[in-house]
Amino acid sequence: MTNVLEVSGLRKSYGKHEAVKGIDFAVAENEIFALIGPNGAGKTTTLRIVATILQPSGGSARLDGVDVASDPATVRERIAYLPEEAGAYKNMTGEDYLRFMARIYFGEKPRQDEALKIAREVCALRERLTDKLGTYSKGMTRKLLLARTIMTRPRLAILDEPTSGLDVLNALEVRATIKEFSRRGMSVLLSSHNMLEIEYLSDRVAIIHKGVIHEVGTPSALKQRYGAANLEEVFAQVAR
Ligand SMILES: Nc1ncnc2c1ncn2[C@@H]1O[C@H](COP(=O)(O)OP(=O)(O)OP(=O)(O)O)[C@@H](O)[C@H]1O
Ligand SMILES: [Mg+2]
Repeated sequence: MTNVLEVSGLRKSYGKHEAVKGIDFAVAENEIFALIGPNGAGKTTTLRIVATILQPSGGSARLDGVDVASDPATVRERIAYLPEEAGAYKNMTGEDYLRFMARIYFGEKPRQDEALKIAREVCALRERLTDKLGTYSKGMTRKLLLARTIMTRPRLAILDEPTSGLDVLNALEVRATIKEFSRRGMSVLLSSHNMLEIEYLSDRVAIIHKGVIHEVGTPSALKQRYGAANLEEVFAQVAR
């Protein structure tokens, strides 16, 4: 199996505080890989480094062998990033926003149209797409941003808490969409502290706590290893 992303000995300090303390993991082609852990564990920090937004303090992250820190431009062409707390332009309509983002990403009209078509399906906002973003609920905005993130069919989608703020039905829809896209050839690195949802969504998970990865494996292997009924129970044992 080919690895799309390889993270090795990755470290990040903010001043004296070491938020990520030398972590290793890899994401394979078509794989959905989740970083799970409590608030402050280092999930967003790791995702931001892979997304070329933050410089690591040590170690490396490579996308198809390309180092994210030394060649961010090449990496950016192959990834898409959904930040944890993302806003959008309040005065644009949903449709205008998606078109604007498609134009930034693709030069040719047919590719822009293709991306727009995908985005419309993914966000499922239908007639609300003609309304301004300022009138959207939190969940509607989240779905629009997810649509914007995966409409370019990136090699790796980096999704920080993709279902945060979504109700049960919308979260189910978003999870199904992420799964479908991964089957169609997109790898996913996501974070969540909702360990139960992650069990359903992810092929493999890494349990991160205080900047250290304690376990990596499929949800079923981890549950078996700890004799646990679910990943929350696994985490409770790991975090002790
Ligand atoms: N810009 C920053 N400056 C200083 N410290 C930071 C900064 N960003 C994050 N940290 C610290 O680094 C640690 C890891 O934060 P990070 O945001 O990566 O955690 P997280 O796992 O994403 O948490 P959450 O589940 O709350 O989103 C925390 O202790 C946090 O306070
Ligand atoms: Mg975070």
